[in-house]
Amino acid sequence: MEFDDVIMGRRSIRGYKPDPVPRALIEEILALAMRAPSSMNTQPWNFTVLTGEPLDRIRQGNTERNLAGVPHSREFRIGDPFDGVHRERQIGVAKQLFTAMDIARDDKDKRLDWVMRGFRQFDAPVCVIITYDKVLQGSDDTPFDCGAVTTALVNAAWSRGLGAVINSQGIMQSPVVREHAGIADDQIIMKAVALGWPNDTFPANGVVSGRKSVAEAATFVGFDGETETIID
Ligand SMILES: Cc1cc2nc3c(=O)[nH]c(=O)nc-3n(C[C@H](O)[C@H](O)[C@H](O)COP(=O)(O)O)c2cc1C
Repeated sequence: MEFDDVIMGRRSIRGYKPDPVPRALIEEILALAMRAPSSMNTQPWNFTVLTGEPLDRIRQGNTERNLAGVPHSREFRIGDPFDGVHRERQIGVAKQLFTAMDIARDDKDKRLDWVMRGFRQFDAPVCVIITYDKVLQGSDDTPFDCGAVTTALVNAAWSRGLGAVINSQGIMQSPVVREHAGIADDQIIMKAVALGWPNDTFPANGVVSGRKSVAEAATFVGFDGETETIID
């Protein structure tokens, strides 16, 4: 696959075939992902790759605790609830997904089912938990580096025909993940990635989310002599 095809074709996959993913393929993808740059080449990331029974225990623990209303215990900070343009984008992609899945605004059962799907890691055959070395806690560079390697991971997966979705849902009940994944105390749980072969008949997998334009995102300084090209 060409680089552009990977970048432009990748989208979050939230429905999977049950088929297993060979360990050798996951190792290949991780090796590609770890070519990501990191602050002073610290490579703060670590991966716990789960499948089978341990992953099922996490799905079950997440489900039970969320249905019981146990408050979330994620190990990273989140800011205030989104507002303005960020809220609009959040609602925009949610609407796309709910439309694809035929989930009506007032259909509480279907909405709950959708949320619980996330806590079950979208029933993917594999889940990768991204952690980082606790001694680096407090540096904003570290989560930035984890983001870089995780983006590279989902793109590498896509290049091999695998689908993935980066998610916070799977690690919101962090004690469940710590216990069943055996995460060491010197690690901070940063994010989860559900991974597997895309189910092409799962409607949400067809959703292509929007992006703001380069003109909106980028400010060019010192390019006065060059002609402006607007790319949407
Ligand atoms: C840090 C991060 C956390 C995310 N958490 C979730 C999540 O908990 N549940 C979910 O369904 N998608 C989650 N996503 C996927 C985003 O919703 C998705 O990347 C975004 O809408 C853009 O869509 P695309 O990946 O298909 O391009 C997350 C993505 C990132 C980068």
